[in-house]
Amino acid sequence: MNAHDSERIKGMLEELGLGEAPSQADADVLVFNTCTIREKPDTKFAAHLGNAVAQKRAKPETIIAVGGCYAEAQRERLFTLYPDVDVAFGPGSIAHLGEWLGAGGAGVSRGRFGVDERSFAGELPMHRERSFQAWVQISMGCNSKCAYCIVPAVRGREVSRRPGDVVAEVTRLATEGVREVTLLGQNVNSWGRDLAPDLRTEFGELLRACDAVEGIERIRFTSPHPKDFRRPVIDAMAECDAVCEHAHLPLQSGSTRILKAMRRTYSRDRYLRLVEELRDAIPDLALTTDLIVGFPGETEDDFRETLRAVETVGFDGAFTFVYSPRAGTEAAAMSDQVPDEVKRERIERLIDVVQHAATVRNAARVGGVE
Ligand code: 5AD
Ligand code: SF4
Repeated sequence: MNAHDSERIKGMLEELGLGEAPSQADADVLVFNTCTIREKPDTKFAAHLGNAVAQKRAKPETIIAVGGCYAEAQRERLFTLYPDVDVAFGPGSIAHLGEWLGAGGAGVSRGRFGVDERSFAGELPMHRERSFQAWVQISMGCNSKCAYCIVPAVRGREVSRRPGDVVAEVTRLATEGVREVTLLGQNVNSWGRDLAPDLRTEFGELLRACDAVEGIERIRFTSPHPKDFRRPVIDAMAECDAVCEHAHLPLQSGSTRILKAMRRTYSRDRYLRLVEELRDAIPDLALTTDLIVGFPGETEDDFRETLRAVETVGFDGAFTFVYSPRAGTEAAAMSDQVPDEVKRERIERLIDVVQHAATVRNAARVGGVE
């Protein structure tokens, strides 16, 4: 989602006549698109901002803009923490950056745009990094309450983009030469629910509508929440030529006890049944996932269940994360935090198991033609 937002930011700046500078030192406007899902991106941003501030001190007319989820999460204190920042905008307020810059700062020394005035970045101009591939935003925000996750606080409640708008964008992209689209939402499988009663639809229908667009050869989507993966979507995946035989299906933990504490609302067995259903319907399906180690209260036995689940499913790949407490989330306030050294030891063991499973899956494909 952030990669998509960055392409929109770039597209919008270009429309204002601001092109990419050959290097940071040459830039008049420095725009950061930030992430705050874990502590690491926060720390990285602080280091980058340090360089930007040094540049601004040497050339005071430099403008520093900070967008994205960190800007939103820190909206009350961003300008106090970093007085050299000129403008801040949340992930739903990218358009306001353009308005602010377009008006030359509009006589305000500082601007801040937050989650209350959200709009779809999908309506903004876009600078695509790859000419054949495009990100297409189908919803913004998230209605889940995963105990570890800061996203609902920074991206707000879920709002679905209207199917006509999504298909119109995909059609336009196809005429521009795009062959592959990735449909984006925090939980693509709940797309459309908030459009009722005005419109009764679901994600499978959207997949079929995008599949019908001439010129689109590949459709991907990310991410589906396992709790909402229903038959109509599985059928659409199986039947639509353009929809790739791939699901990125975040498991997070293989322990039902931890899944419950995480408020994921599915059990390990239900996840495994879904995997079976998907594999029955879609032969040679590639499966990838997200996994977190060291969630509060995770015991060695819980962690082993995650290892076992990885072996049982045989993922083609996985993003593996050390649990990172985020201020204001339910899990950050839990008393049984796992010590850092235990988390580090577990992530290393998990990566070994994930890589082994992925190697076995890849080896089985050697010599095949896709
Ligand atoms: N700590 C570690 N990983 C997290 N994720 C989300 N929040 C956290 C957190 N606080 C991971 C989840 C999610 C992915 C995008 O990031 O696995 O699926
Ligand atoms: Fe975060 Fe859970 Fe929403 Fe994903 S579904 S964005 S992990 S709250």
